[in-house]
Formats: sequence, structure tokens, C-alpha cells
Amino acid sequence: MKSFNFFSSVSLTALAVIMNLASCTQDVVEGKLYVTPVPSEVIWQKGVFRITPSTTFSVDASEADKNNIESLILASSLGIKKSENNKSDNHIVLKVVGALHGLTSMEGYELSVDDDVLKIEALSGAGLFYGVQTLLQMASESPEIPAVKINDEPRFQYRGMMLDVSRHFYDKEFVKKQIDLLSYYKINRLHLHLTDAAGWRLEIKKYPRLTELAAWRTKAVWKDWWNGDRKYCEETDPNAHGGYYTQDDIRELVAYASQKYITIIPEIEMPAHSEEVLTAYPELSCTHVPYKQADFCVGNEKVYEFLENVLLEVMEIFPSEYIHIGGDEAGKASWKTCRLCQARMKEEGLKDVNELQSYMIHRMEKFLNSHGRNLLGWDEILEGGLAPNATVMSWRGTEGGIKAVKAGHKTIMTPGQYCYFDGYQDAPQTQPEAIGGYLPLSKVYSYNPVPDSLSKSEKELIYGVQGNLWTEYVPTKEHVEYMLYPRMIALAEVGWSRQENRSWEDFHIRALKTVDQLKQKGYNAFDLKNEVGNRKEAQSPIEHLALGKKVKYNASAWKNYPANGDNTLTDGHRGGWNYNDRMWQGFVTKDGVDVVIDLETETEIHSIAADFMQICGPGVFMPAKAIISVSADGENFTQLVEVDHKVVKDDAVSFKNFGWKGKTKGRYVRYQALPSKEFGGVLFVDEIVVL
Ligand code: ACM
Repeated sequence: MKSFNFFSSVSLTALAVIMNLASCTQDVVEGKLYVTPVPSEVIWQKGVFRITPSTTFSVDASEADKNNIESLILASSLGIKKSENNKSDNHIVLKVVGALHGLTSMEGYELSVDDDVLKIEALSGAGLFYGVQTLLQMASESPEIPAVKINDEPRFQYRGMMLDVSRHFYDKEFVKKQIDLLSYYKINRLHLHLTDAAGWRLEIKKYPRLTELAAWRTKAVWKDWWNGDRKYCEETDPNAHGGYYTQDDIRELVAYASQKYITIIPEIEMPAHSEEVLTAYPELSCTHVPYKQADFCVGNEKVYEFLENVLLEVMEIFPSEYIHIGGDEAGKASWKTCRLCQARMKEEGLKDVNELQSYMIHRMEKFLNSHGRNLLGWDEILEGGLAPNATVMSWRGTEGGIKAVKAGHKTIMTPGQYCYFDGYQDAPQTQPEAIGGYLPLSKVYSYNPVPDSLSKSEKELIYGVQGNLWTEYVPTKEHVEYMLYPRMIALAEVGWSRQENRSWEDFHIRALKTVDQLKQKGYNAFDLKNEVGNRKEAQSPIEHLALGKKVKYNASAWKNYPANGDNTLTDGHRGGWNYNDRMWQGFVTKDGVDVVIDLETETEIHSIAADFMQICGPGVFMPAKAIISVSADGENFTQLVEVDHKVVKDDAVSFKNFGWKGKTKGRYVRYQALPSKEFGGVLFVDEIVVL
């Protein structure tokens, strides 16, 4: 059969096109393949393979793989039967083989179709499973499978999703439902954030108070609890909210996931985010007082005994190569005055508390390595020196990941600005309350996890990518699905498909269809077709009299949110829904915003105004006052207006313009905005527009 290599570019046409090849007497029908993640290579051929009730299939693989693949097919809507002999003239052959030309990944597969036989070959059970998922996606479009040859393999070995089951607990059946979907899109890791202040979620036989007390709290909804008493309660308390997985639950989940070629990675937080442990076992904190600290006492030998005992039980039930030890956001304050921590620092010659944290991570790594496991941690594990075999999850941007690969370590990219699905995915006023931010589907899809700046060998250490759902503001299962899909599916394509094969326009067409399919399957996906998009002011630049003019800062901008530096307030770009989009500049001091713009010549002015945003959760507030003045010489200013605003704390994300209108003349414009005495917080302003 003559073939036509369609896939030199992935811009799949929406409509079928009849290709008439001069060199070939046969017509090849090039269609659109609705397969996500988009495969590496698709060669269109002539003909179709019809799936009918008499179609049969056979699997040639190890016993375990054979069972997994057969179960997948028999549970699917294909409606086909198993047949060990390949005699039927409408047969699907699935086979693990020793070698496949052109594939480099053990997870790759080759799918070929001709009129009588549809064949999937792979180097492993996982590869075969992914080939079948591709077939299932094609068959969901039509039982007439176009004659194609697909050679497909993942770009990254690690394609993960993290679910925070501490802030809100979701039962094992719900986790299984997500595993079904993740595996359909060729995700191969599920990272469970099992422990945090809001609840410990794993039975540990040696330490029963972790699940008798630390898994239960006084309020069901995290936000009520966090803004309320933040107390734990006994499991037997009639008002207890929470839950945990028993070790048998975990065995069941791990086995279920493994049949779908997903490894579950447990995260046990240390040394911080451990208020719940330190209330159940206060002797493990520096003060021994419950409800006092989030950090373990890392100078105390008993802490190592506790953590090692916990990890022994964890390793017993999670076969994963990686054990995630958290490592993020330690306050470290109590270590500075704790007798045991100080003694440990002295004994080990550690110069600061960062090195003390690093000492602890090194020890835990040694322990894990001695049990044949590897340590995975958030990028703070770089501080004070990285443990020799550790893999880093880069979440505070990509710098941690870059630093890790430059030091020869593997890294998993999961930067907040692309991979944190707890932020708004559309205009906040149209969405349920989220933690803030704005991460639409297009932004997730735009992520390329391999920075150009890396050398070839450094690039090879980018092990993969992960989407994270933190659940502070996600109290229900329906809401979890809403936040995850379709964003997680965009990230599945980022993780699997070649960069040059990816096209946002093409993905968007598939994603719209995917959302409909997910709803039919009972997943509460975000309604992509009604997406509003970014704040309209942010969609195009604005021309005005101060554009490009120099800004003098009487009060400094906050270095954590510099946006575009000293150009931000006159660069013509207004901010979107997210204060972290590098258009909004942050001001955190009591002086708030105090800047002077030099218009370079005396200018007639009719309007001076700026937008501010408020989102109270992360401490972003409106100003209580704006003062606008002009001057001819930059020394003597005439005040044009003083705008007062009553700052009110609420759940909404809001935007407000503070300005003056009239007629004046001046060369210098001074814009001041002061935070409220009551709330303070950060002021975010995007552009001072002078007209
Ligand atoms: C994190 O978001 N604290 C890893």
C-alpha cells in the first residue's frame, strides 16, 4: 500500500480533504484525527477498518499486561469479543514485541490499519495500553477507523497530576474515576498530597493519633476552618469532618492505577506544613505545644525516628520509585531559638537554618535510598544544598528546575504560572471562588517545559511535567473535576506530544469536543464553549500621553511583583484577571504607590487614572485613598483630586478605576495611592493612563 506522510505539520485540517497523489494511482483520504495527545506521526492510507459486533481481538503480552489490556477493551464501548485465533477477517491484533523501528520510548506504540486487520504493537504493556487508548479515541468518533499508520511515543517520561487530598478529602472511588480519565490521556503519574495542616490522610499503624485526630477537623469547608478556629477533633466527634485512606484503600488504589499504567506517588510533608502532626504528637515540635507550629523540630532525634517509621509504612504500600517529602515553605523560625536545633547545627557545622533543612533532607534521602527509593521534593530542597540523588519539582517558576538540571539532577516542571489549576480559568466573576490568579486553557497549552537556555545534556534532565490541583477553595468532587478539565488534558498533550506537532488552534477544536464527551461520561468539566477570556482592558495595548515616559518612584515597588520594572506603569499594557501576569505592579509598604511621571514637555491634560484590583484571600486590597497632582517643574505640585474609598473585605475579585477628569496643564504627574489602615495588604496597579 502506498502511503502519504501527512504529519510533516500537525495542522490537521478540520474538513476531510481528498488528496490526489501524482505518484500514486490510489487516492488517499486525509482526515482529521481527534486523538489527544496528538500523536508523533500519522501516515494516512487508503481504506477503513470497520468495527462491528463480529470484530474480534487478541492480546499477546505477559499475563498481567494481557489482563490489563483485555479489561480495558472489554469495559470500553467498542463492543468487541476476545478471540485467541486470528482467523476472523475483522480482527484487532495487540502485541508486545521485542523491537519496533523508529521508537525510542518503552511507552511508544505503532498502530496500523488495513481493511482486515488493525494491529497495535508496542515494546511494553504500557505502550500497548496507550495504543488502545488511541484506538478508543478514534472509535469514539466513528466505528470506521481510517486506514492510518501511527507511530507514537511520549516526549517526556514523567507526565503527572497532583491532587491535594488534605485541604479536602476525596474518597477512593473518586480517585479511581480520575485515574480512568488520566490514563485515557496517557498520564502516567498521580501524586497525592496526603498530609498538610488541613488533615492527615493516610493510616499509619504505628501512629494512630494521625488518623484518630489529625485527619479530622471542626469544619467541612477549608476556608471556614482556616478563617475559624483551625482546630482538629476526634474521629468519634459527631461534628468531625475529614477522612483518610486505610492502608487497604491504598493497596486497592495502587493496584487499580497500575492496571492503567499509572504510578501513585505519595507525598508526606516535612519539615513544614505539619500542624496536624504536631498537634497529634506535639513532642515532635520545638515547643512541644500543640497548635503552635507548622515545622518539625529537626534537631530532635525522635523526629527522625517518627518520620522513618512513617516512611517504612508508606513504602510498604506504595511501590513507587519516588517518595515525595514536600520540603516547601518551611518557616524555620522556631529552629533559630530551639535548643535541640541549635545544638544540631553546632554539631554538624551548619551555618544557617537553610543548611539545617538541607541536613534533614539529606538524611531522609539516605534513608529512602537505603530502601531502594528516590527522594522527590519541591524546589525549596535546593536551599542549603541539594541531596545527591534528589529529583526537584520546580513550582516557584522554572528557576529551581534550571538550577537542578545544571547541577546534574532530574527535574519535573510544574511552575505555578502554567501548572497550578487552583487559579481561575476564566473571568473570576463568572467562576466559583478560586485562590486567585488566572490560568486559562490557552496558557496551560502554551507551556514548553524545556527552556531554550539549557544545553542538550541539561535538557535531557527535564524528566517531565505535572499539573497540580491544590484544593483550599475546592470543597467538592464536582469542583475538582471543574478545575482539572480540560486544563489537565492540555497538560497531558504538553507532556506527551512533540513541541513541533502542537497547535493551539487544533487543540482548541479537540478540547471543545472533549468537554462535551467528558460531560457525557459524567465529568463536570469547565464549559469551554462559553469561555469569556481575559479582562478586555488587557487584550490590546493603550495609547496615551504618558506612554513610554519615565517614572520616578518616591516609594519602591515590591520586588516580589516588579512586573515590567520601572516601565510597567507607562508601558501601554493593562493587567488581566491575574495580578501575577507581569502587567500589574505590586506595592506593599505603608506609603503605597507614590510615583511621578515626566511627560517631558508641558502638556494639556484631561484625564489621569489608574486601575487597581482586589482579591482578599492572598491579601490584595484596594487603596483607601488616591491623590493626583500636577506640576510644571517637578517640585511644586498642585493637587487635582483626592479620592477616598472605603475598603471592604469580600470574596470577589474586583477592579476599580481611581482617577481625575477635567482640564489642566503640566509636565509632571504625581500619582499616590495609600493602603487602608484596617487591611493594609498589597496594592496592585497596572498603568497610569494620562489623556
Ligand atoms: C507549593 O505550592 N507550596 C508546592
